[in-house]
Amino acid sequence: MPKWLKDAVFYEIYPQSFQDTNGDGIGDFEGIIRRLDYVKSLGCNALWINPCFDSPFMDAGYDVRDYCKAAPRYGTNEDLVRLFDEAHARGIHVLLDLVPGHTSEEHAWFQQSASLEPGEYKNRYVWTNSAFQGIPEHPYIGGMRDRDGCYMLNFFASQPALNYGWARCTEDWMLPPEHPDCQATVQAMTDVMRFWLDRGCDGFRVDMADSLVKNDDEKKTATGAIWRRIRTMLDKDYPEAALVAEWGHPELALTYGFHMDFYLDHWGNGYNLLLREFEAHEQDGKDASYFRKDGGGDITRFLEDYLTRYEASRSNGYISFITCNHDTPRAKRTLSDAELKLAYAFIFTMPGVPFLYYGDEIGMRYLDLPSKEGGYGRTGTRTPMQWDQTAQLGFSQAPADRLYLPVDPAEDAPTVESQERDPDSLLHTVRRIIALRHSWEDLQADAGFEPVVAQMGGQAPFVYRRGALLLAVNPTGHVTQAVLPDTAPIRGLHGESVFEIGHASYAQDNRLLTMEPQSFAVYR
Ligand code: NOJ
Repeated sequence: MPKWLKDAVFYEIYPQSFQDTNGDGIGDFEGIIRRLDYVKSLGCNALWINPCFDSPFMDAGYDVRDYCKAAPRYGTNEDLVRLFDEAHARGIHVLLDLVPGHTSEEHAWFQQSASLEPGEYKNRYVWTNSAFQGIPEHPYIGGMRDRDGCYMLNFFASQPALNYGWARCTEDWMLPPEHPDCQATVQAMTDVMRFWLDRGCDGFRVDMADSLVKNDDEKKTATGAIWRRIRTMLDKDYPEAALVAEWGHPELALTYGFHMDFYLDHWGNGYNLLLREFEAHEQDGKDASYFRKDGGGDITRFLEDYLTRYEASRSNGYISFITCNHDTPRAKRTLSDAELKLAYAFIFTMPGVPFLYYGDEIGMRYLDLPSKEGGYGRTGTRTPMQWDQTAQLGFSQAPADRLYLPVDPAEDAPTVESQERDPDSLLHTVRRIIALRHSWEDLQADAGFEPVVAQMGGQAPFVYRRGALLLAVNPTGHVTQAVLPDTAPIRGLHGESVFEIGHASYAQDNRLLTMEPQSFAVYR
């Protein structure tokens, strides 16, 4: 396990939209470099940068044309290496985004694989034997290439599936994962990882990490075996390199060698119940998200889902809570800043390794926009970072009509500059919480998590322990109270408050905790 993950707090950057420095309306590496001090000022000590490789950008870069070449619109490989160096000089680690499941249809491997003479790339992608023979129950494309066959898709039509084999081969064109050509795909992806690790990158966020071997069993055993081998390679040659999975099942991903797995916004899961429950109620307008002031304050459904995953995975690695990501509507869509403060306080005091999505620290909005680069409904979460009150909110010198995406047009669009001036802003609250996490090992990745008071119906605050600290949150609009159990750890508390949002008090003699509306407190 890389030691630096213990106290890591990640910042996710969508490079298109972070900071443009050459006036072309799109972000670049130089822009990220210039903002590293800002990232550091948040207390974030690690970055995840969305794919920044050469690509036709049919899916915002998740359609890679050349894994070993930086996208010219962001800069050169040398610029990216300089970004690694500048980040390291500030104690910031950098993860790149690895897309192992598919490439762009413009990747040289695919071009050759789709030709009449595919040579060594014949089986680099999944192909059937004939342009008239599809892939049962799977997305595929036929009739588009010289090669007589249909090829399999992994996501959009522009993203042909790389071939890692099939767990159960029922057609003669299906190869088992042990086939040398499938092994060659693994080797090629391992070479890509080495290429960037050798240049200073600190690991990878792995796109659709569970999608490698087709027809895999429910536990994704064959895909998992590939990641296990990759982890063995990392442990040997790059022991400080980190892998975070886009998998959403830490109880599997972490046993297969990932150090971290995201708690993603999956329909009805614990994470969604915290701040994204509206998705389940889009029709009737109800929103029972735990952190909504009017959400009902029921933490038990979250705990049921989370504790199962946490207990099953904690000895193998970390669950990563996210404030949002580039695929998810920003939480600001349904939560106020007051609600976000509590949600973030919770996220940044949980075990595992948390991720802050750029702009969430100032409560950037989700904008209703037409699709850009395959974003569709995700586009509104990918708008330019809002730095200050200058033109284009400090994102770019380009005129508005040349921007990658428009900046938030609202008169009260939050910016870093305006929130710097307000001591009570979301930005300052985020800084305070992250600083608190860094100052107490009990709040970092490894220390335990234990609910102390968890009720349905919002009658009591939710109280939990992390190591020797006691934390409590009351997201509702009314005062809540709880008498804490008379156990040794509770008796051992000094009752001294080390952090507060809103107001709370704890009387040690009768163990009575009183939380004002919308408050959060940490006691030692
Ligand atoms: C998940 C990524 O997060 C998403 O943005 C992308 O479109 C798909 N994988 C396909 O790579």
